Amino acid sequence: MADHGSNDVLFEITSAHLNKGLRGVPVGTCRTSKVDTMEGVSYVGYPIAELADLEEEAVVYLLLHRELPTDEQLVEFNKNLISRRGVPQQVLDVLQTLPKEGHPMEWFTTGLILLGMTSKTGDLLEDAYNAMARLPELVAAIFRIRSGWGAPIKSNPELGLIEDFVAMLDVPGGHNAKLTRLLRTFYILHMDHGGGNLSTFTGKTVASAGTDMYSSLNAAMSGLYGPLHGRANQDCLNFVRTVGSTDPAKVESFVRATLDGGGKIFGFGHAVLRAEDPRATIQYKVGEEICPDDELFRTAAVMREVAVKVLKEMPKVSNPYPNVDAVSGSLLNASGLTDSDFYTVLFGLSRCTGIAAQIVDERLRFRGGKGTPIMRPKYIAEDQPKRSLK
Ligand code: MLT
Repeated sequence: MADHGSNDVLFEITSAHLNKGLRGVPVGTCRTSKVDTMEGVSYVGYPIAELADLEEEAVVYLLLHRELPTDEQLVEFNKNLISRRGVPQQVLDVLQTLPKEGHPMEWFTTGLILLGMTSKTGDLLEDAYNAMARLPELVAAIFRIRSGWGAPIKSNPELGLIEDFVAMLDVPGGHNAKLTRLLRTFYILHMDHGGGNLSTFTGKTVASAGTDMYSSLNAAMSGLYGPLHGRANQDCLNFVRTVGSTDPAKVESFVRATLDGGGKIFGFGHAVLRAEDPRATIQYKVGEEICPDDELFRTAAVMREVAVKVLKEMPKVSNPYPNVDAVSGSLLNASGLTDSDFYTVLFGLSRCTGIAAQIVDERLRFRGGKGTPIMRPKYIAEDQPKRSLK
């Protein structure tokens, strides 16, 4: 579809669409990914399931360049990213002074601003590359300092992006091989989800003012921090913990009692999807591989059957199926990352890739390179009779 110049009628806006969060209202175009209500997300045409086991750098490349790299291109790209690694000491020093009560997402948004203050170039593509290369070290430092695990660990240029991230985390009692297996997939699955999810839309909106990449990502991540958006993944694990059984009959009673009491079944349903999220399907498979006997993973697996059955009985529920958050927390927990407060930061580390790629598209490539104008939607003033102080 052309991103300018066509007069096709795409959507009729009526007053029923007002104050509904722009649901369904087309705003622009997206070149990095597409969300099909039944098939879920694809990146640049590739179904997510086909990408989930690739090298993570190849998928970063795909979103930024909209082609998978050849072997030679991937080698060059990896070298390029490695040469950009390194979080300035000044940033790490400030992180040491942040209040431990702050949520890890507040640390992350602060870290993005600090990275911007110390290392932005002002060139959006350069800053996108730099952010991709440096965020794993920033996030690992946040985990270590805020959790009291010890001083930040430097990046190792011999390791790939996520293997290096896991080495820099060095989770106490963690299982690095298992965690690397999980996080490589987790990182790929969470990178992008169309153009209109709240964090991506926010990041692009802020960037449309000419704001730099790091501050735009900061704004996007403040959106991801919301419990109705990315922070839902930490709530999901807490919810699975309260189920307290892997017995299907008991789980069913729990689900019914929760719904009867007006409660929510976390990890099920989605704003756009109307079938099981393929990102959930992939993660259930990873769970069978890395932690098949883990109690919480088994609970999440039983929920996959039972909650869907019960939610399907409810006529008002448009999507009774598991979403990306339904099982991710149980897998992270089984891999040594037991503090769910950090889960949204892992989501953010990955989502910054898609957001940065979409910002680069909107600012530098759309409309023949002119970029989209500053975002300025129309709000209709409600009845406000004229007044005067005179
Ligand atoms: C997701 O990854 O599912 C989202 O960011 C939520 C959305 O698409 O609105």
